[in-house]
Amino acid sequence: MSSKINAAITGTGSSAPKRVLTNLDLEKIVDTSDEWIIERTGIKERRIVEDGIVGTDLALDASKKAMEEAKVLPEEIDMILVGTVTPDFLLPSNACILQDKLKTKNAGVMDIVAACSGFIYGLSIAQAYIQTQKYKTILVIGVEILSHVTDWTDRNTCVLFGDGAGAAIVQPTNDDKGILATFLSGDGSLANLLHIPVGGCKTPLTEKNIKESMHFIKMQGSEVFKSAVRSMGDATERVLKLGAITSDEVDLLIPHQANMRIIEATARRVKLPMEKVFVNIHKYGNTSSASVPIALDEARKSGVIKKGSKVVLVAFGAGFTWGSALIKF
Ligand code: ACO
Repeated sequence: MSSKINAAITGTGSSAPKRVLTNLDLEKIVDTSDEWIIERTGIKERRIVEDGIVGTDLALDASKKAMEEAKVLPEEIDMILVGTVTPDFLLPSNACILQDKLKTKNAGVMDIVAACSGFIYGLSIAQAYIQTQKYKTILVIGVEILSHVTDWTDRNTCVLFGDGAGAAIVQPTNDDKGILATFLSGDGSLANLLHIPVGGCKTPLTEKNIKESMHFIKMQGSEVFKSAVRSMGDATERVLKLGAITSDEVDLLIPHQANMRIIEATARRVKLPMEKVFVNIHKYGNTSSASVPIALDEARKSGVIKKGSKVVLVAFGAGFTWGSALIKF
């Protein structure tokens, strides 16, 4: 016990659509191969929503599981933070819609547009509110329906993405555990390397730009790859420094699941053996902001994370944004 208030994760949950899209399925859609996708990305299959399912449906499922584990009732939630770049609507936010679905009464609600780093941005905001004792129970979510913004004729991108949601409940504790440090950063000057060019106020949707598939994700893969390795390595080192620990003391690294080669290069940079790195990219592909919380939930539920484990979460995504969190369980 210490007098300091820490922000601890007291429950997690995740949700993935039932529909599985394998590399062999993709071979029938674009000029690609199971072998190429596995070798260049590590992905074997991804989950894709059925028609009519939206992000707040998956977020609701993941949230209920996290709330059940933390024994939190809807009316106890003070704030809902949803990391997403694929909201149900441009207006209102997913957090608002989820508040209604969960029947929470008093929660503040906010979406965070930080792409793959969205969940870590949310955790950092939750930590600040808990440590300043403004709020007691915060629901943080990462959820994406990337299949809706994927160009299924573009082999450079369509093999990478999937849908899913992950959630965590963050609450105060006096124990010597919880979110020990977070680090957030970004670089908007590189925005054009990974973006959806149209559909915002600057370039509204038109018949012409939809025909040209400009409303889907466009990515310069190899440039994004290099920035991801550099930024995820840097963010990991920064959060270890902030938490005053060395990489030897880390029990588990949970990196954003974008590409197996990015994960391996990041681990090498921060001198962590792959046995200490959690990987589930083969099952889900890149689910953007959902990737880290799904992996966190699986690592906790499978017993990889134990009481006392020191875990680093790290992500990188469109924007560019990147960030990390050091957590003691
Ligand atoms: N199947 C077969 N061949 C392919 C495919 C495919 N699915 N995709 C690309 N290729 C080809 C290319 O056309 C190219 O052929 P060419 O040499 O004849 O021109 C060749 O493979 C090599 O292409 P590269 O783009 O150089 O391949 P690379 O090894 O860089 O892998 C990849 C591409 C997987 C996209 C990689 O660059 C990557 O993972 N980038 C990072 C993605 C990422 O991290 N995004 C993070 C954030 S996502 C978000 O925020 C939503």
